[in-house]
Amino acid sequence: MIANGDEKRYWELIEAAKAATQMAYCPYSNFPVGVALLTFDDKIYTGCNIENAAYSQTIHAEETALAKAVSDGGIQRAKAAGLTQFDFIKAVAVHTPKGGDPWPCCNCRQSLCEFGLKMDNVGESKDGRMLSKKLADLVPEPLDMEKVLAAVNSKS
Ligand code: THU
Ligand code: ZN
Repeated sequence: MIANGDEKRYWELIEAAKAATQMAYCPYSNFPVGVALLTFDDKIYTGCNIENAAYSQTIHAEETALAKAVSDGGIQRAKAAGLTQFDFIKAVAVHTPKGGDPWPCCNCRQSLCEFGLKMDNVGESKDGRMLSKKLADLVPEPLDMEKVLAAVNSKS
């Protein structure tokens, strides 16, 4: 369930993800993906998948959007507002016009977990409804900074 006050903005986020699919570079899969991230300070960053003749160098739409959001200074803004990186991204919308669910692949789920364990993941169903899940429900045991630092700093 998403909070009532968020619904309108989340539809705008889904529309931004749809628009981003137009920018996809995917001549190998012909499977465009568009993503839009909503930050704690209500900014939207979009991304599309960017494929490569060396297939493994493909950049997923979520990674493109994350790179734009972080490189635009988003983490610095969050810290200046007294927040941590875990509060940076409030929601992610995914759009795949060729079909499928609006949930990121498992690698991208982990990438997103770095910046918002509480984030909502939204998208549009085939019949025009908003689908939503918490990222935490898609990733029940995320590897996060606290776990890594605890392991790195523990005496063996
Ligand atoms: N893709 C994404 O952009 N995000 C995902 O999380 C799943 C997969 C892209 C990669 C590739 O360009 C195409 O979708 C087909 O897998
Ligand atoms: Zn992915």
